[in-house]
Amino acid sequence: MTRRRVAALISGRGSNMAALLAAAENPDYPAEIALVLSNRADAAGLAHAASRGVRTAVVESRAFRGDRAGFEVAMEAELARHGIEVIALAGFMRVLTEGFVARWEGRMINIHPSLLPAFPGLDTHARALAAGVRLHGCTVHLVTAGVDEGPVLAQAAVPVLEDDTEAALAARVLTEEHRLYPAALGWLAAGQVRVEQGRARLSGVAMAKGCLANPLPSAPALSTP
Ligand code: GAR
Repeated sequence: MTRRRVAALISGRGSNMAALLAAAENPDYPAEIALVLSNRADAAGLAHAASRGVRTAVVESRAFRGDRAGFEVAMEAELARHGIEVIALAGFMRVLTEGFVARWEGRMINIHPSLLPAFPGLDTHARALAAGVRLHGCTVHLVTAGVDEGPVLAQAAVPVLEDDTEAALAARVLTEEHRLYPAALGWLAAGQVRVEQGRARLSGVAMAKGCLANPLPSAPALSTP
């Protein structure tokens, strides 16, 4: 099996990138993380990647203030140098230009901490709490020009609890991100994803059955006359 050469793009902690690295340690996983690329030299995830023997690179976005094209040319050079075929955005906090996104169409995925199309953008957990939703979660999607708008590959839902804090909810979602992202990248790398009329279609992937409800709808108490 030839494994697809993946770059994980990070801006900070890199816990999703670490989950991808862990999955790729299995030789049967269809992707190898050939590069961890950060737009910040102080991203904590870089040290973790290096400690696992994974190649790392930094293209400081701050050095290209106001020059997004120049920033992306520098990133493309790193991606080409490492023979990258697929990009996994993993907490990469820069918006990419339409040109960059078009060049990587169908080959770039992102993980977002909400059940898209609910709560695109930032502060998703605080916004979910403020909106009072009972289910929240994360989404892996193909990246298209519209931010957080591309075809959805996979989603995981978690309950929002009555006494939740933003931190508790974020942690519950993050646990699911770490399970979902390696699976979704594996499906893309194995060629199990195609896009039809703007919708991602998966082949050979087991679909969940049943339903997740919160609160649990137990049978209502019967009042006897
Ligand atoms: C993750 O929760 C990820 O879903 C989110 O940033 C966090 C990065 O954590 N991404 C976005 O908000 C992208 N818009 P990590 O660096 O530990 O993976």
